[in-house]
Amino acid sequence: MTGEPRSMQRRTIRSPPSSAEGQCVRIDSLLEDDEQRSLARDALEGLRRPRKQMPSKHFYDSRGSALFDQICELPEYYPTRAEREILSTHAVEIAKLTHAAELVELGAGTAAKTRALLRALDDQGALRRYVPIDVTSAVVEDCAVALSSEFPRLTVHGVICDFERHLRHLPASGSKPRLLALLGGTIGNFTPAGRVRLLREISAMLAPGDHLLLGTDLVKDPCVLEAAYNDSAGVTAEFNRNLLHVMNSALDGNFDPASFDHVAVFDEQEEWIEMRLRSKRKQTVSLGALELSVHFEEGEEMRTEISAKFTRRRVESELESAGLAIVRWFTDGEGMFALTLARPAT
Ligand code: SAH
Ligand code: TRP
Repeated sequence: MTGEPRSMQRRTIRSPPSSAEGQCVRIDSLLEDDEQRSLARDALEGLRRPRKQMPSKHFYDSRGSALFDQICELPEYYPTRAEREILSTHAVEIAKLTHAAELVELGAGTAAKTRALLRALDDQGALRRYVPIDVTSAVVEDCAVALSSEFPRLTVHGVICDFERHLRHLPASGSKPRLLALLGGTIGNFTPAGRVRLLREISAMLAPGDHLLLGTDLVKDPCVLEAAYNDSAGVTAEFNRNLLHVMNSALDGNFDPASFDHVAVFDEQEEWIEMRLRSKRKQTVSLGALELSVHFEEGEEMRTEISAKFTRRRVESELESAGLAIVRWFTDGEGMFALTLARPAT
């Protein structure tokens, strides 16, 4: 990655009022127009390849985040329900094992499932601060404000940033020990090399006594997997096409989202779901802000997302290559999804 400013600009969007009545919310953004640059760079890089592709983090503007919340409620999309079951069953045990005084959550979204964990940590009495991190600013703001009134003893410090680029600019650990969470199977949205890179950066943020809580979807029947990413109501298709809306508005583009079909297939070799947009016709799209014309043949596909599916062995070996060791492996009753508690290996 290039173009990283030497000293990161931190913009405070909200700071705690001086006479805080139990409410302590702070929100910082590390994004500014930098966010725009990353979309531009990714489009220039990804749309000029022989096999077009875009990174998935650009799905999530406010509309994309709202569509993702709808996906989580779909009958076919089992990961959210399975992970919620694991969290509510084992939150107290996780609180006991970690004694976390600080919970840092990467890609927190609306933190819907995190509440069970926050409740258990708060009840235990050690928790002081919650740091929700996400690229979507409105989501961080709403989530931070809501959680701070639900958990009046907590300081909530929301950070709007790109966790692929900004982890080393996060606020220093406030109270120790720290629990870092990456839920929802988001780690699976990275390639194997990207996962090891991210896990190594995460590992570098953990001191002895700190933990990582990692949510991973598990390998299973391809029909079940494909249905989860190709629901009958068409919400996932709309979510996938939202990337085109994002490029249209941020990069002055003229994509016609209706001229792209949503495709989701399980690649058995790679053990990942691959999401693509397939051009229904031969067409040329322009991205005015980049002075770029992008040509699509009829049937040509652009890869928009991968969602890797794991086995325990794979989770273990990827954690190990990042210097982390498994403390506990939790799954739901049907063995659909796993939550791994890990710590720095000694
Ligand atoms: N943790 C929630 C949301 C998962 S969806 C859950 O389990 O339901 C993935 C979330 O990660 C989205 O909210 C998205 O905005 C965020 N995200 C994806 N890539 C990101 C990145 N590079 N930096 C920061 N946030 C990111
Ligand atoms: N982390 C989620 C997953 O891989 C993200 C996700 C769910 C997603 N459904 C999607 C991403 C549809 C793109 C399209 O399961």
